[in-house]
Amino acid sequence: MLLKAAAQLLPVDVSMEILPIADIPLYNADFDLPAAKQRPEPVEHFRKMLTDADGILIASPEYNYSIPGGLKNAIDWASRGEDSPLLRKPVAVIGATPNLWGTIRMQMAFHNVFLFLDMKPVYKPEVLIAQAEKKFDKDGNLIDETAKRLIRQKLEALKEMIHLQTQVGDIVDTKII
Ligand SMILES: Cc1cc2nc3c(=O)[nH]c(=O)nc-3n(C[C@H](O)[C@H](O)[C@H](O)COP(=O)(O)O)c2cc1C
Repeated sequence: MLLKAAAQLLPVDVSMEILPIADIPLYNADFDLPAAKQRPEPVEHFRKMLTDADGILIASPEYNYSIPGGLKNAIDWASRGEDSPLLRKPVAVIGATPNLWGTIRMQMAFHNVFLFLDMKPVYKPEVLIAQAEKKFDKDGNLIDETAKRLIRQKLEALKEMIHLQTQVGDIVDTKII
């Protein structure tokens, strides 16, 4: 429901596709490269879709103060290899929960993943949808104006990060200090 809401709040010239993860098997190195010639088909598809995307928007609940296992498993599959589609990719996390803390602990748990993969996370504004049952109507539409504004701002920030990354790639002389 949250991803569908985000898809209605995109900045201009941004398109979004929702990528389901339900078919992705448990990570097993025996079925990963180079041991296996080909990864399981749902994993190949998942990685290809991520490769084709300029940025990633992750929407998730919080499980036991952390990232739900199914989502972490999908991220693990995508993270392997020098051709990982996650490496240095702009990313943003949003979350919804019936509880009070709005998935902040799940979102914090992503920091380590982003660090390891050298991803380019957009942290602000935080989109923490607490008491979600009050923020969506019975048809699953987001009806909370504050949440909508924050999602819009987050998507703008993600777009900006994507453009920044592209421009950095174009610079010939790079100075660091
Ligand atoms: C295994 C499990 C652990 C959960 N842990 C948390 C938690 O740490 N924090 C929280 O706010 N909600 C927690 N919840 C409640 C979820 O936010 C709530 O069930 C939510 O609707 C799950 O979304 P889903 O149905 O898309 O998985 C947990 C739910 C499950 C099933």
